[in-house]
Amino acid sequence: MDKFQTPKNRIRKLRVLSLGDKPYEFKVSGDNINTTLIDLSSNDYFGLSRDKDVINAAHEATLIEGLGSGSSRFISGSRPIHKSLETNLGKWLNQDSVLLFPSGYQANIAAIQALTDKNSIIIADRLIHNSLLVGSKTSGAKLIRFLHNNLKDLENKLSKYSIINNSILVVVESLYSMEGSIAPIEKITKLCKKYNCKLLVDEAHALGILGNKGKGLSYPFLDSISMVSGTFGKAFGSGGAFLASNEKIGEMLIQSSSPFRYTTALSPSLAAGALKSLQKIKKNQYLGTDLLKISKRWKKEIEHIGKYEVIGDAHILSLIIGDEDKTMMMQKFLEEKGFLAVGIRPPTVPAGKSRIRLTIRSSFNTNILKNFISALKAYK
Ligand SMILES: Cc1ncc(COP(=O)(O)O)c(C=O)c1O
Repeated sequence: MDKFQTPKNRIRKLRVLSLGDKPYEFKVSGDNINTTLIDLSSNDYFGLSRDKDVINAAHEATLIEGLGSGSSRFISGSRPIHKSLETNLGKWLNQDSVLLFPSGYQANIAAIQALTDKNSIIIADRLIHNSLLVGSKTSGAKLIRFLHNNLKDLENKLSKYSIINNSILVVVESLYSMEGSIAPIEKITKLCKKYNCKLLVDEAHALGILGNKGKGLSYPFLDSISMVSGTFGKAFGSGGAFLASNEKIGEMLIQSSSPFRYTTALSPSLAAGALKSLQKIKKNQYLGTDLLKISKRWKKEIEHIGKYEVIGDAHILSLIIGDEDKTMMMQKFLEEKGFLAVGIRPPTVPAGKSRIRLTIRSSFNTNILKNFISALKAYK
């Protein structure tokens, strides 16, 4: 296949969106266009990326600790704010070791490299994020996939491969980014215990929202989980990420992880913003549950129209359209009605499963839902 030839209907354009006046608005300006769109697609679930306190914390940290870190943590890039964020997250999640990374993509690659070698077997859910897939493929380990959230298939694979290999890593997400489905974490931890294998849980979309006080779905089972991965780019409204584990694994990451060692440390401003967001999430323990209530109402009302298959167990909902072109036509229609509701197509989702992915935000009021339902009803 020629890398420079993207099929016409799969060409994606980079759009520039400015922030609108409301915490959930984008402005689109261009040739003769000047519109405002309601953001149904970003992962800034609580709107913390635009929160005054979070921005002020980032600003102050920039003045005190500089904009960029200037080097890797090992050279001269470790600042007090890095340590402070790691310590606070460790206390919150009851984990001995927390290590920051510039992005969740990098953290996931580092996690898989740390927990496997070329003799290992990785048994991963069919729908894991691309970063986990790339981490698995580049680790040198053998990669096996199990059917999405299917415990029977996972156990079949565990029983088959645990006979021939004693270094198995199971890789899952707690809330899947495109399906919006919740993984049965407790049952997965039990299977991993039974077959004596390691477990990596990516909490990217759950952290701050799901589980006890937003601590993610892994929190009650941490003693059976080797590593938890989290990002600040979603509910925390900042950027960067972390890996949490016991001290032994954490120390091994520090000593041997290339994605940690050979990169400029997370910017102090992003770390400070993430720390302020963490404080806000800790203080307002109903942020997550309130968002889930709003999401439930959205799902119910969309289903009530009777025209759409809606999937999603929490704040990520998808309207399954199937055909790629029809999905993009619907995106266009919704945009004309004032909504940024991006169509997701292969290769991000399997062929025939194209969809409009909706991310619900805590600032959505009933009027927004009412207008969105009217738009969906009007779509032919
Ligand atoms: C499940 C999942 N893991 C990891 C990542 C990567 O996180 P980051 O955006 O911090 O690189 C994403 C981002 O899209 C994600 O959806």
